[in-house]
Amino acid sequence: LEVNWDVTAAQKEGYPHYMLKEIHEQPAAITRTIAPRIKNGLPDFTEDAIPDSFFENCSDITVVACGTAMYAGMVGRTLIQSMLKIPVTVAIASEFRYEEPVIGENSMVIVVSQSGETIDTLEALRLANKYTKKTLAIVNVKGSSIARESNYVLYTHAGPEIAVASTKAYTVQVASFYLLACKLGLVLHKIDETYAKDFIATLQKVPDTIAPLIEQADTIEQLTKRMINAQNAFFIGRGLDYTLSMEGALKLKEISYIHAEAYAAGELKHGTIALISEGVPVIAVASQQHVYSKVISNIREVKARGAYVILLSKDQSITDNSICDVHLQLPDTPDAFAIFSAVVIFQLIAYYASVGKGLNPDQPRNLAKSVTVE
Ligand code: G6P
Repeated sequence: LEVNWDVTAAQKEGYPHYMLKEIHEQPAAITRTIAPRIKNGLPDFTEDAIPDSFFENCSDITVVACGTAMYAGMVGRTLIQSMLKIPVTVAIASEFRYEEPVIGENSMVIVVSQSGETIDTLEALRLANKYTKKTLAIVNVKGSSIARESNYVLYTHAGPEIAVASTKAYTVQVASFYLLACKLGLVLHKIDETYAKDFIATLQKVPDTIAPLIEQADTIEQLTKRMINAQNAFFIGRGLDYTLSMEGALKLKEISYIHAEAYAAGELKHGTIALISEGVPVIAVASQQHVYSKVISNIREVKARGAYVILLSKDQSITDNSICDVHLQLPDTPDAFAIFSAVVIFQLIAYYASVGKGLNPDQPRNLAKSVTVE
């Protein structure tokens, strides 16, 4: 195993917890991850030695991972499917490895892992390697088992992530999917260079867009005070916002022990709305224009049943109390990029809910940073 970071990078540097430090490190981590892979405004994987032929003839993609890495894959799935119209499936590694996978020789399998050592993900990769040569690992730890055994590797450059709950590793995994989507689109002639350059230019702006949001931590700390006694919380959204909600719910339950679930907003009425009662926190994201009015109407449904609604949207006309209890303004970015802003807010909500309950967010009970046992 090759350790490619120094000791100072793994210290708290005045932050009360590693998790808060790592949340703050995200703009730099994203830049470190994407900058070496952009040449002349276009995605370029020369440094990773991934040839264009790897992307050629790709018929479909299966993303395999666990936990947060799997949720990064959910974002990748929604992005790639909507942008490139290629079928993408996301599989839970511990399920995938015991199933008969539907993988052809032109199928691409992307395994995602911060540690590169998660046993289920590693075994899933070993299985995938039997079916296709198009295996790619998105991994943070250099020289890890998953990096060594996949045919190609795209290293994220998050630096050491110490807090058990993943933050910066997730955002750089997501950013990697954005680079991959763009590259794949170009090689498969699904997008043209003008589109790709515009897309990459927007991706390059993400670090500057999210940095000021992280500085708004006080606002988030205040609003979580209303949440810390909750037994349940719900995260809702549609499209990319739904995939992001899964990560939001995971963060909250991992470190605050509040039972949190993500729901596709349109699915609420098929059961979950029965759980909405006075004061139940609902964190809603409405950043996707094509489903905006639909999400807003779902929010009205939960609000009418007494939910305490925190809404994240780009809509400047929304005021607190119009349809929500708290409105958190998202920066005005193209829809596909809003999730980078929203996830930072989710991470801070989880962090302050944990701290507000007197817990140590860095070391949640029963959880390990890297799961190398089955
Ligand atoms: C554990 C960690 C999670 C992580 C998951 C997958 O459950 O607590 O934060 O998302 O493993 O880990 P990996 O290293 O494969 O990304």
